[in-house]
Amino acid sequence: MAYYSDELIDEVISQNDIVEVVSEYVTLKKSGRNYTGLCPFHREKTPSFIVSMDKQIFKCFGCSEGGNVISFIMKLEKLDFWESVLFLANRAHVDTSKYEIKTSFSNNKEEVKKDLKEVLYKLNKDAALYYHEALVEKLEEKTNLVKDYIIKRKFDKNVIRKFGVGFGRGTIPLFDYLKNKGYSSEEIFASGIIIEKAGSLKHYDRFDSRLIFPIFDIRDRVIGFGGRVLDNSLPKYVNSPENEIYSKGKNLYALNFAKKENLESIIMVEGYMDALSLHKNNINNVVASLGTALTESQARLLKRFTDKIIIAYDQDSAGQEAILRGLDILTDKSLNVKVLKLDKEDAKDPDEYINKYGVERFQHCVNNSISLVEFKVSKLEKELDLNNIDSKIKFLTQTANILSKIENNIERDIYIDKISEKYKIGRGPILKEIEKRLNKNDSKNEVIDTSLLNKKIHIGSSVRKRQEQYIIALLLSKDLKIQKQIFESISVQEIEDESVKDLYNTIIGISKNFDINKIDILSRLRSEEQIKELTEVMYLDISNVDKVKMLNDILSNKKKEKFRLRRDEIIQRIGQNITKDEEEVLQFELNQIILELSKLK
Ligand code: CTP
Ligand code: MN
Repeated sequence: MAYYSDELIDEVISQNDIVEVVSEYVTLKKSGRNYTGLCPFHREKTPSFIVSMDKQIFKCFGCSEGGNVISFIMKLEKLDFWESVLFLANRAHVDTSKYEIKTSFSNNKEEVKKDLKEVLYKLNKDAALYYHEALVEKLEEKTNLVKDYIIKRKFDKNVIRKFGVGFGRGTIPLFDYLKNKGYSSEEIFASGIIIEKAGSLKHYDRFDSRLIFPIFDIRDRVIGFGGRVLDNSLPKYVNSPENEIYSKGKNLYALNFAKKENLESIIMVEGYMDALSLHKNNINNVVASLGTALTESQARLLKRFTDKIIIAYDQDSAGQEAILRGLDILTDKSLNVKVLKLDKEDAKDPDEYINKYGVERFQHCVNNSISLVEFKVSKLEKELDLNNIDSKIKFLTQTANILSKIENNIERDIYIDKISEKYKIGRGPILKEIEKRLNKNDSKNEVIDTSLLNKKIHIGSSVRKRQEQYIIALLLSKDLKIQKQIFESISVQEIEDESVKDLYNTIIGISKNFDINKIDILSRLRSEEQIKELTEVMYLDISNVDKVKMLNDILSNKKKEKFRLRRDEIIQRIGQNITKDEEEVLQFELNQIILELSKLK
């Protein structure tokens, strides 16, 4: 992909009116100065989705999504930031070449790397075609080991084509084939599909005679390969090494296919074979983690497409442990996670299960997948012998630990019922154990809270937040004097609301490189939280207020707030057991503060 200057962003925004763009997806009705419609990002019956023509932003007051035309396309078309910019450039026929940053004559290292990336994408694609062609040739022959294996594993033609399955040895050597296509030896070795033998001119194919699974990224580019042996030899799989374009922790196998579905949930399996088997049976909302521990960036990637993940890992203990390790990462991104249990002991993974028991029965398992809490409890059950009294006590204790972490009271109660019934333990004792833990947590919270409590006496946190949001609104009002005054008189530390603070800090950073009056700040933000926060700020109407007076009011409020806090701290301190000297110093400071406060009134 080429690289573009930031001016393209502003051009794209000015050429794509948000009302027009949104209208292509949502039926909008004019209502005063705004347009309203049913939010495309959550289910609703009455419209809470608003598009502002003046401000060129959208906001949903139901689900709090918001942003400008680029954020809208990112969410709706599930594209990343620059993909969305190009999508909109294309829509408005903006000539992007004018904004392209030329890299060919540069000897900047970063840029050389980017060029290598382009080559590797192409090289991988050519290699994938070579492998696929090799497999097709094998399948056309009457009989051979490859064909036998394909038949044994019940692959079908469509799935082979869709996934570009291949075989790691064709009629001419892969190295020669790639050389003929014009790739240099360095490029070929950088891809990792052919390995150079140290200290000699020899090299060998990493995937020689293996069954090949090309790994695609979400834009359908081939970024690497996995290769399986056709027998029981080891290692069962080899994979492309990490390189400029392949990073296993940032990708999920088959997500490029799954994302084309209407994704209410995504089923996550461990292996290539599982993913293929399910897709073959028209269960297309499936991705594979490829047997490695889930990473945060994979969780983020999933979150772009769905809120609900069903984990369908192997039933062996390694698979079950992998589930536990992945859980926190997924729930941290507030994904709703369920765990699928295969209801037959003699099928170790989804692939085997489907081949033995059929897709309908598998679907039944999907529908019966259990929640995290149930999964953790049933895992405990398996590990402990509930006929033994000591173990049963241990079970109850640890179950209480798990349940006490559920925040929603109703949800917790439902689980208590379920567990009490299933394990024949009275509701009473479970409740008591949980309460013990909850009370402990409560008292802990109280200790932390008392220091905050005093702050809240003066000004509610929502009022303060609103006030701080107005600071941002004033900052963006294109009034140079006001901007200067804000930057000079308000430090990041002085903003107390975490979300506004984060936004303010980012805007300060942006203002070092850009004139914030001339660019679209929303488009320079990359965090979804910040975009939402800024959209909210943009809906604060300050067009008719006296900005100088408003800022002065806010500043003086902030000052008062600070003095009052310090005053109360001192009063509290003086009431404690302190030395005469310290008391004298504090008393002096207190007098000063009282004086200042009286001036501010
Ligand atoms: N894996 C790997 N290297 C290995 C073994 C496994 O990279 N030596 C990865 C592969 O991506 C594999 C996944 O872990 O798909 C799950 O492993 P496994 O369950 O053993 O493989 P399956 O895909 O289920 O293959 P099969 O059904 O042929 O055993
Ligand atoms: Mn398997």
